Amino acid sequence: MIQSLKGMPDLLPVDTLRWQQAEHKLRRLFESYGFGEIRTPFLEPTELFSRSVGESTDIVEKEMYTFIDKNGESITLRPEGTASVVRAYNQNNLAHLQSLWKLYYLGPMFRHERPQKGRYRQFYQVGAEVIGSMNPLVDVEVIQLLYEVGKAFDIESPLMQINSVGDATCRMPYREKLVSFLGARKSEFCETCQKRIDANPMRVLDCKNPNCQALLETAPMMLDHLCDPCKDHFSKVTRALDTSKIPYVVNKKIVRGLDYYTKTAFEMTGGGLGAQNTVGAGGRYDNLIEETGGKPTPAIGFAIGMERLLLSSRAALVRPVTRIDVIPLDTPQAETAFLIANRVRQALGDHAVVTTLLDQTSFKSALRLANKNESTYVLILGENELQKNTIMLKNLRDHTQKEVTISDIENVLMGEFNVRPA
Ligand code: HAM
Repeated sequence: MIQSLKGMPDLLPVDTLRWQQAEHKLRRLFESYGFGEIRTPFLEPTELFSRSVGESTDIVEKEMYTFIDKNGESITLRPEGTASVVRAYNQNNLAHLQSLWKLYYLGPMFRHERPQKGRYRQFYQVGAEVIGSMNPLVDVEVIQLLYEVGKAFDIESPLMQINSVGDATCRMPYREKLVSFLGARKSEFCETCQKRIDANPMRVLDCKNPNCQALLETAPMMLDHLCDPCKDHFSKVTRALDTSKIPYVVNKKIVRGLDYYTKTAFEMTGGGLGAQNTVGAGGRYDNLIEETGGKPTPAIGFAIGMERLLLSSRAALVRPVTRIDVIPLDTPQAETAFLIANRVRQALGDHAVVTTLLDQTSFKSALRLANKNESTYVLILGENELQKNTIMLKNLRDHTQKEVTISDIENVLMGEFNVRPA
Protein backbone atom coordinates (compact mmCIF):
# COMPACT_ATOMS: atom_id res chain seq x y z
CA MET A 1 0.00 0.00 0.00
CA ILE A 2 1.34 3.43 -0.86
CA GLN A 3 1.70 5.66 2.20
CA SER A 4 1.69 9.45 2.44
CA LEU A 5 4.99 11.25 2.95
CA LYS A 6 6.21 11.52 6.54
CA GLY A 7 4.87 14.58 8.34
CA MET A 8 2.16 15.15 5.72
CA PRO A 9 -1.06 13.90 7.30
CA ASP A 10 -4.47 13.56 5.64
CA LEU A 11 -7.43 15.47 7.02
CA LEU A 12 -10.51 13.26 7.00
CA PRO A 13 -14.13 14.50 7.17
CA VAL A 14 -14.15 14.12 10.95
CA ASP A 15 -11.26 16.65 11.05
CA THR A 16 -12.29 18.88 8.18
CA LEU A 17 -15.60 19.80 9.78
CA ARG A 18 -13.67 21.30 12.69
CA TRP A 19 -11.21 22.92 10.27
CA GLN A 20 -13.96 24.49 8.18
CA GLN A 21 -15.57 25.95 11.26
CA ALA A 22 -12.21 27.24 12.48
CA GLU A 23 -11.42 28.77 9.09
CA HIS A 24 -14.83 30.43 8.97
CA LYS A 25 -14.35 31.90 12.45
CA LEU A 26 -10.85 33.14 11.57
CA ARG A 27 -11.97 34.73 8.32
CA ARG A 28 -14.80 36.57 10.09
CA LEU A 29 -12.43 37.79 12.80
CA PHE A 30 -9.72 38.96 10.37
CA GLU A 31 -12.28 40.64 8.12
CA SER A 32 -13.79 42.45 11.13
CA TYR A 33 -10.37 44.14 11.53
CA GLY A 34 -10.39 45.21 7.87
CA PHE A 35 -8.14 42.47 6.45
CA GLY A 36 -8.76 41.22 2.92
CA GLU A 37 -7.64 37.78 1.73
CA ILE A 38 -4.61 37.34 -0.53
CA ARG A 39 -3.84 34.02 -2.25
CA THR A 40 -0.31 33.58 -3.50
CA PRO A 41 1.21 30.55 -5.27
CA PHE A 42 2.56 27.59 -3.28
CA LEU A 43 5.69 27.59 -5.43
CA GLU A 44 8.00 30.58 -5.61
CA PRO A 45 11.54 31.24 -6.87
CA THR A 46 13.97 29.91 -4.23
CA GLU A 47 15.72 33.26 -4.08
CA LEU A 48 12.59 34.86 -2.61
CA PHE A 49 12.95 32.84 0.60
CA SER A 50 16.74 32.78 0.81
CA ARG A 51 16.77 36.58 0.57
CA SER A 52 13.82 37.32 2.85
CA VAL A 53 13.90 34.61 5.50
CA GLY A 54 17.73 34.66 5.55
CA GLU A 55 20.51 32.39 4.26
CA SER A 56 21.67 31.33 7.72
CA THR A 57 18.25 30.45 9.16
CA ASP A 58 17.24 26.83 9.82
CA ILE A 59 14.40 27.23 7.31
CA VAL A 60 16.66 28.18 4.41
CA GLU A 61 19.66 26.08 5.43
CA LYS A 62 17.87 22.83 6.16
CA GLU A 63 14.13 22.81 5.78
CA MET A 64 13.06 23.98 2.34
CA TYR A 65 11.58 21.73 -0.33
CA THR A 66 13.64 23.04 -3.21
CA PHE A 67 13.66 21.58 -6.74
CA ILE A 68 15.11 22.36 -10.09
CA ASP A 69 12.19 22.99 -12.45
CA LYS A 70 12.15 21.56 -16.00
CA ASN A 71 13.52 24.89 -17.26
CA GLY A 72 16.48 24.72 -14.88
CA GLU A 73 15.10 27.31 -12.45
CA SER A 74 15.38 26.67 -8.68
CA ILE A 75 11.91 26.73 -7.14
CA THR A 76 10.70 26.20 -3.56
CA LEU A 77 7.48 25.14 -1.89
CA ARG A 78 6.72 28.09 0.36
CA PRO A 79 7.91 27.53 3.94
CA GLU A 80 5.99 30.60 5.15
CA GLY A 81 3.68 33.30 3.82
CA THR A 82 5.25 36.69 4.55
CA ALA A 83 7.86 36.58 1.77
CA SER A 84 5.18 35.76 -0.81
CA VAL A 85 2.88 38.54 0.41
CA VAL A 86 5.73 41.03 0.16
CA ARG A 87 6.62 39.77 -3.32
CA ALA A 88 3.00 40.14 -4.41
CA TYR A 89 2.84 43.63 -2.85
CA ASN A 90 5.90 44.72 -4.81
CA GLN A 91 5.04 42.94 -8.04
CA ASN A 92 1.45 44.21 -8.20
CA ASN A 93 2.43 47.78 -7.29
CA LEU A 94 -0.03 47.74 -4.41
CA ALA A 95 1.64 50.82 -2.92
CA HIS A 96 0.25 52.89 -5.80
CA LEU A 97 -3.33 51.95 -5.04
CA GLN A 98 -3.41 52.79 -1.34
CA SER A 99 -0.88 53.53 1.37
CA LEU A 100 -2.02 50.95 3.92
CA TRP A 101 -2.73 47.29 3.18
CA LYS A 102 -4.16 44.73 5.56
CA LEU A 103 -3.86 41.28 4.03
CA TYR A 104 -4.55 37.81 5.40
CA TYR A 105 -3.90 34.33 4.04
CA LEU A 106 -4.70 30.78 4.90
CA GLY A 107 -3.05 27.75 3.38
CA PRO A 108 -0.41 25.04 3.47
CA MET A 109 3.28 25.69 4.12
CA PHE A 110 6.12 23.19 3.76
CA ARG A 111 9.17 22.67 5.96
CA HIS A 112 11.34 19.56 6.11
CA GLU A 113 11.48 19.42 9.92
CA ARG A 114 11.54 16.42 12.25
CA PRO A 115 7.84 15.60 12.67
CA GLN A 116 6.39 15.48 16.18
CA LYS A 117 3.21 16.58 17.94
CA GLY A 118 2.35 20.05 16.57
CA ARG A 119 5.17 19.92 14.00
CA TYR A 120 4.61 18.66 10.48
CA ARG A 121 6.23 18.92 7.08
CA GLN A 122 3.04 20.17 5.48
CA PHE A 123 1.15 22.39 7.90
CA TYR A 124 -1.37 25.19 7.55
CA GLN A 125 -0.89 28.77 8.55
CA VAL A 126 -3.35 31.59 8.84
CA GLY A 127 -1.45 34.85 8.72
CA ALA A 128 -2.06 38.58 8.75
CA GLU A 129 0.18 41.34 7.41
CA VAL A 130 -0.24 45.11 7.73
CA ILE A 131 1.90 46.92 5.18
CA GLY A 132 2.50 50.67 5.19
CA SER A 133 2.52 51.89 8.80
CA MET A 134 5.18 52.56 11.43
CA ASN A 135 2.57 53.45 14.02
CA PRO A 136 3.10 51.51 17.27
CA LEU A 137 -0.70 51.27 17.56
CA VAL A 138 -0.63 49.06 14.48
CA ASP A 139 1.69 46.70 16.39
CA VAL A 140 -0.87 46.69 19.17
CA GLU A 141 -3.74 46.05 16.78
CA VAL A 142 -1.91 43.09 15.26
CA ILE A 143 -0.99 41.65 18.68
CA GLN A 144 -4.59 42.19 19.76
CA LEU A 145 -5.84 40.24 16.76
CA LEU A 146 -3.61 37.31 17.71
CA TYR A 147 -4.85 37.59 21.29
CA GLU A 148 -8.47 37.67 20.06
CA VAL A 149 -7.86 34.45 18.09
CA GLY A 150 -6.56 32.83 21.28
CA LYS A 151 -9.71 33.98 23.10
CA ALA A 152 -12.13 32.97 20.32
CA PHE A 153 -10.64 29.46 20.26
CA ASP A 154 -10.39 29.25 24.04
CA ILE A 155 -6.80 28.05 23.82
CA GLU A 156 -5.30 26.51 26.93
CA SER A 157 -3.20 28.82 29.15
CA PRO A 158 -2.48 31.47 26.50
CA LEU A 159 0.61 33.59 27.06
CA MET A 160 1.56 36.56 24.87
CA GLN A 161 5.29 37.26 25.00
CA ILE A 162 6.83 40.32 23.43
CA ASN A 163 10.27 41.72 22.81
CA SER A 164 12.11 44.14 20.54
CA VAL A 165 14.85 42.87 18.25
CA GLY A 166 16.03 46.41 17.41
CA ASP A 167 16.89 47.74 13.97
CA ALA A 168 19.90 48.24 11.72
CA THR A 169 21.22 51.02 13.96
CA CYS A 170 21.27 49.19 17.27
CA ARG A 171 21.54 45.55 16.24
CA MET A 172 25.09 45.64 14.89
CA PRO A 173 26.73 47.07 18.04
CA TYR A 174 24.58 44.73 20.16
CA ARG A 175 25.58 41.74 18.04
CA GLU A 176 29.24 42.52 18.67
CA LYS A 177 28.64 42.60 22.43
CA LEU A 178 26.75 39.31 22.26
CA VAL A 179 29.38 37.60 20.11
CA SER A 180 32.12 38.66 22.47
CA PHE A 181 30.10 37.33 25.46
CA LEU A 182 29.36 34.04 23.69
CA GLY A 183 32.86 33.71 22.21
CA ALA A 184 34.44 33.88 25.68
CA ARG A 185 32.42 30.79 26.71
CA LYS A 186 32.12 29.09 23.32
CA SER A 187 33.32 25.63 24.35
CA GLU A 188 30.72 25.44 27.15
CA PHE A 189 27.77 25.79 24.75
CA CYS A 190 26.07 22.90 22.93
CA GLU A 191 27.19 21.99 19.42
CA THR A 192 24.28 23.79 17.70
CA CYS A 193 24.94 26.98 19.67
CA GLN A 194 28.64 26.84 18.86
CA LYS A 195 27.77 26.85 15.17
CA ARG A 196 25.26 29.64 15.64
CA ILE A 197 27.68 31.92 17.48
CA ASP A 198 29.33 32.75 14.15
CA ALA A 199 26.41 32.41 11.74
CA ASN A 200 23.41 33.73 13.67
CA PRO A 201 24.39 34.59 17.28
CA MET A 202 20.96 35.89 18.35
CA ARG A 203 19.49 32.43 17.77
CA VAL A 204 21.71 31.14 20.61
CA LEU A 205 19.30 32.91 22.99
CA ASP A 206 16.57 30.58 21.69
CA CYS A 207 18.36 27.34 22.65
CA LYS A 208 16.26 25.02 24.81
CA ASN A 209 19.27 23.23 26.33
CA PRO A 210 19.20 23.94 30.14
CA ASN A 211 22.98 24.19 30.28
CA CYS A 212 23.02 26.84 27.53
CA GLN A 213 20.14 28.66 29.21
CA ALA A 214 22.15 28.79 32.46
CA LEU A 215 25.17 30.17 30.58
CA LEU A 216 22.93 32.86 29.06
CA GLU A 217 21.76 34.22 32.44
CA THR A 218 24.26 37.07 32.30
CA ALA A 219 24.27 37.53 28.49
CA PRO A 220 23.59 41.02 27.11
CA MET A 221 20.01 41.33 25.83
CA MET A 222 18.87 43.31 22.78
CA LEU A 223 16.08 44.98 24.75
CA ASP A 224 18.67 46.59 27.05
CA HIS A 225 20.68 47.90 24.10
CA LEU A 226 18.02 49.50 21.88
CA CYS A 227 18.67 52.79 20.14
CA ASP A 228 16.38 55.67 21.16
CA PRO A 229 13.82 55.30 18.31
CA CYS A 230 13.49 51.53 18.97
CA LYS A 231 13.23 52.12 22.73
CA ASP A 232 10.55 54.75 22.15
CA HIS A 233 8.63 52.46 19.79
CA PHE A 234 8.72 49.59 22.28
CA SER A 235 7.53 51.73 25.17
CA LYS A 236 4.63 53.06 23.07
CA VAL A 237 3.66 49.49 22.18
CA THR A 238 3.73 48.26 25.78
CA ARG A 239 1.85 51.36 27.01
CA ALA A 240 -0.93 50.81 24.48
CA LEU A 241 -1.06 47.07 25.30
CA ASP A 242 -1.55 48.07 28.95
CA THR A 243 -4.33 50.53 28.19
CA SER A 244 -5.99 48.02 25.83
CA LYS A 245 -5.85 45.45 28.67
CA ILE A 246 -4.11 42.87 26.52
CA PRO A 247 -2.21 40.56 28.87
CA TYR A 248 1.45 40.00 27.94
CA VAL A 249 4.88 39.43 29.38
CA VAL A 250 8.14 40.89 28.13
CA ASN A 251 10.51 38.07 27.22
CA LYS A 252 13.93 39.44 26.31
CA LYS A 253 14.97 36.10 24.81
CA ILE A 254 12.44 36.10 21.96
CA VAL A 255 14.52 36.37 18.80
CA ARG A 256 12.40 34.54 16.15
CA GLY A 257 13.82 32.12 13.60
CA LEU A 258 13.53 34.39 10.55
CA ASP A 259 15.97 37.17 9.74
CA TYR A 260 13.59 39.84 8.49
CA TYR A 261 12.37 41.10 11.86
CA THR A 262 12.96 44.60 13.22
CA LYS A 263 11.67 46.20 16.43
CA THR A 264 8.58 44.40 17.83
CA ALA A 265 8.65 40.58 17.94
CA PHE A 266 6.02 38.46 19.67
CA GLU A 267 4.85 34.91 20.23
CA MET A 268 1.72 33.45 21.74
CA THR A 269 2.16 30.09 23.43
CA GLY A 270 -0.61 27.72 24.47
CA GLY A 271 -1.04 24.60 26.60
CA GLY A 272 -1.63 20.98 25.58
CA LEU A 273 1.04 21.15 22.89
CA GLY A 274 4.20 19.75 24.46
CA ALA A 275 7.46 21.13 23.10
CA GLN A 276 5.91 22.83 20.07
CA ASN A 277 3.87 25.26 22.12
CA THR A 278 4.01 28.42 19.99
CA VAL A 279 0.54 28.79 18.52
CA GLY A 280 1.21 32.01 16.64
CA ALA A 281 4.11 34.40 16.21
CA GLY A 282 5.23 37.44 14.28
CA GLY A 283 6.73 40.88 14.36
CA ARG A 284 7.74 43.97 12.44
CA TYR A 285 9.75 43.71 9.25
CA ASP A 286 10.38 47.33 8.28
CA ASN A 287 13.22 46.62 5.82
CA LEU A 288 11.94 43.57 3.95
CA ILE A 289 9.94 45.37 1.27
CA GLU A 290 12.90 47.54 0.32
CA GLU A 291 15.31 44.60 0.50
CA THR A 292 13.20 42.69 -2.00
CA GLY A 293 13.02 45.52 -4.52
CA GLY A 294 10.19 47.76 -3.31
CA LYS A 295 10.19 51.28 -1.88
CA PRO A 296 11.06 51.56 1.83
CA THR A 297 7.80 50.51 3.53
CA PRO A 298 7.26 49.45 7.14
CA ALA A 299 5.19 46.33 7.87
CA ILE A 300 4.15 43.97 10.64
CA GLY A 301 2.32 40.67 10.83
CA PHE A 302 2.01 37.23 12.35
CA ALA A 303 1.08 33.69 11.44
CA ILE A 304 -0.73 31.01 13.42
CA GLY A 305 -0.20 27.28 12.92
CA MET A 306 -3.69 25.88 12.34
CA GLU A 307 -2.83 22.41 13.70
CA ARG A 308 -1.45 23.91 16.90
CA LEU A 309 -4.40 26.26 17.26
CA LEU A 310 -6.81 23.33 17.04
CA LEU A 311 -4.72 21.11 19.34
CA SER A 312 -4.74 23.80 22.01
CA SER A 313 -8.33 24.93 21.47
CA ARG A 314 -11.03 23.91 23.93
CA ALA A 315 -13.84 25.43 21.85
CA ALA A 316 -16.51 22.85 21.09
CA LEU A 317 -17.34 21.70 17.59
CA VAL A 318 -20.70 23.02 16.50
CA ARG A 319 -22.82 20.52 14.59
CA PRO A 320 -23.85 22.82 11.76
CA VAL A 321 -26.95 21.18 10.36
CA THR A 322 -29.56 18.66 11.28
CA ARG A 323 -29.37 15.28 9.59
CA ILE A 324 -32.22 13.26 8.21
CA ASP A 325 -31.73 9.65 7.14
CA VAL A 326 -34.28 7.89 4.93
CA ILE A 327 -34.48 4.16 5.67
CA PRO A 328 -36.13 1.73 3.20
CA LEU A 329 -37.00 -1.43 5.16
CA ASP A 330 -36.49 -3.70 2.16
CA THR A 331 -35.23 -3.66 -1.43
CA PRO A 332 -38.61 -2.93 -3.09
CA GLN A 333 -38.91 0.34 -1.13
CA ALA A 334 -35.37 1.51 -1.91
CA GLU A 335 -36.12 3.42 -5.09
CA THR A 336 -39.07 5.34 -3.59
CA ALA A 337 -36.95 6.10 -0.49
CA PHE A 338 -34.23 7.42 -2.77
CA LEU A 339 -36.72 9.71 -4.58
CA ILE A 340 -38.20 10.94 -1.29
CA ALA A 341 -34.69 11.79 -0.03
CA ASN A 342 -34.14 13.87 -3.19
CA ARG A 343 -37.38 15.80 -2.72
CA VAL A 344 -36.72 16.47 0.98
CA ARG A 345 -33.16 17.57 0.25
CA GLN A 346 -34.38 20.06 -2.34
CA ALA A 347 -37.14 21.39 -0.12
CA LEU A 348 -34.89 21.92 2.93
CA GLY A 349 -31.84 23.30 1.10
CA ASP A 350 -29.12 24.37 3.57
CA HIS A 351 -31.23 23.46 6.58
CA ALA A 352 -30.48 19.75 6.59
CA VAL A 353 -28.24 16.98 5.37
CA VAL A 354 -30.39 14.24 3.82
CA THR A 355 -29.13 10.75 2.97
CA THR A 356 -30.70 7.41 2.05
CA LEU A 357 -29.39 4.48 4.05
CA LEU A 358 -29.17 1.92 1.26
CA ASP A 359 -27.71 -1.60 1.54
CA GLN A 360 -28.52 -2.03 5.24
CA THR A 361 -28.85 -5.64 6.39
CA SER A 362 -31.61 -4.88 8.93
CA PHE A 363 -33.69 -2.03 10.34
CA LYS A 364 -31.65 -2.32 13.53
CA SER A 365 -28.38 -1.75 11.71
CA ALA A 366 -29.91 1.18 9.77
CA LEU A 367 -31.04 2.78 13.03
CA ARG A 368 -27.62 2.20 14.58
CA LEU A 369 -26.07 4.02 11.61
CA ALA A 370 -28.57 6.90 11.91
CA ASN A 371 -27.66 7.27 15.57
CA LYS A 372 -23.98 7.20 14.71
CA ASN A 373 -24.62 9.91 12.11
CA GLU A 374 -26.18 11.93 14.97
CA SER A 375 -29.30 12.25 12.82
CA THR A 376 -32.28 14.06 14.30
CA TYR A 377 -34.92 12.40 12.13
CA VAL A 378 -35.33 9.16 10.27
CA LEU A 379 -37.96 8.55 7.61
CA ILE A 380 -38.87 4.86 7.61
CA LEU A 381 -40.44 3.32 4.54
CA GLY A 382 -41.71 -0.28 4.79
CA GLU A 383 -44.02 -2.39 2.65
CA ASN A 384 -47.09 -1.39 4.72
CA GLU A 385 -46.34 2.32 4.49
CA LEU A 386 -45.65 2.14 0.77
CA GLN A 387 -49.01 0.44 0.17
CA LYS A 388 -50.77 3.22 2.10
CA ASN A 389 -48.64 5.89 0.39
CA THR A 390 -47.27 7.00 3.75
CA ILE A 391 -43.90 7.17 5.49
CA MET A 392 -43.01 7.07 9.20
CA LEU A 393 -41.31 10.21 10.51
CA LYS A 394 -39.37 9.43 13.68
CA ASN A 395 -37.64 12.02 15.84
CA LEU A 396 -34.56 10.32 17.33
CA ARG A 397 -34.13 13.03 19.95
CA ASP A 398 -37.52 12.92 21.65
CA HIS A 399 -38.48 9.45 20.33
CA THR A 400 -41.84 10.61 18.97
CA GLN A 401 -43.08 9.38 15.62
CA LYS A 402 -45.94 10.06 13.23
CA GLU A 403 -47.15 8.62 9.96
CA VAL A 404 -47.17 11.19 7.16
CA THR A 405 -48.61 10.96 3.65
CA ILE A 406 -45.69 10.74 1.20
CA SER A 407 -46.86 13.73 -0.85
CA ASP A 408 -46.96 15.82 2.37
CA ILE A 409 -43.53 14.95 3.68
CA GLU A 410 -41.74 18.09 2.42
CA ASN A 411 -44.40 20.36 3.93
CA VAL A 412 -44.30 18.61 7.27
CA LEU A 413 -40.50 18.80 7.46
CA MET A 414 -40.47 22.42 6.24
CA GLY A 415 -42.82 23.14 9.14
CA GLU A 416 -40.46 21.38 11.60
CA PHE A 417 -37.53 23.41 10.26
CA ASN A 418 -39.45 26.69 9.89
CA VAL A 419 -38.54 26.86 6.20
CA ARG A 420 -40.82 28.99 4.07
CA PRO A 421 -41.83 27.70 0.66
CA ALA A 422 -39.73 29.33 -2.09
P1 HAM B 1 6.98 31.13 12.23
O1 HAM B 1 7.26 31.40 13.67
O2 HAM B 1 8.03 30.42 11.46
O3 HAM B 1 6.65 32.53 11.56
O4 HAM B 1 5.64 30.30 12.09
C1 HAM B 1 4.42 30.78 12.61
C2 HAM B 1 3.63 29.64 13.22
O5 HAM B 1 3.46 28.58 12.26
C3 HAM B 1 4.30 28.96 14.39
O6 HAM B 1 4.08 29.67 15.59
C4 HAM B 1 3.61 27.61 14.41
O7 HAM B 1 2.34 27.71 15.05
C5 HAM B 1 3.39 27.34 12.93
N1 HAM B 1 4.42 26.42 12.42
C6 HAM B 1 5.66 26.71 12.00
N2 HAM B 1 6.30 25.59 11.60
C7 HAM B 1 5.44 24.56 11.77
C8 HAM B 1 5.49 23.15 11.54
N3 HAM B 1 6.57 22.56 11.02
N4 HAM B 1 4.41 22.41 11.83
C9 HAM B 1 3.29 22.99 12.35
N5 HAM B 1 3.19 24.30 12.58
C10 HAM B 1 4.24 25.09 12.30
C11 HAM B 1 6.35 32.70 10.24
O8 HAM B 1 6.13 31.80 9.48
C12 HAM B 1 6.21 34.15 9.86
N6 HAM B 1 5.92 34.23 8.44
C13 HAM B 1 5.14 34.83 10.69
C14 HAM B 1 4.98 36.28 10.35
C15 HAM B 1 4.01 36.82 9.58
N7 HAM B 1 5.80 37.25 10.71
C16 HAM B 1 5.36 38.39 10.18
N8 HAM B 1 4.29 38.13 9.50
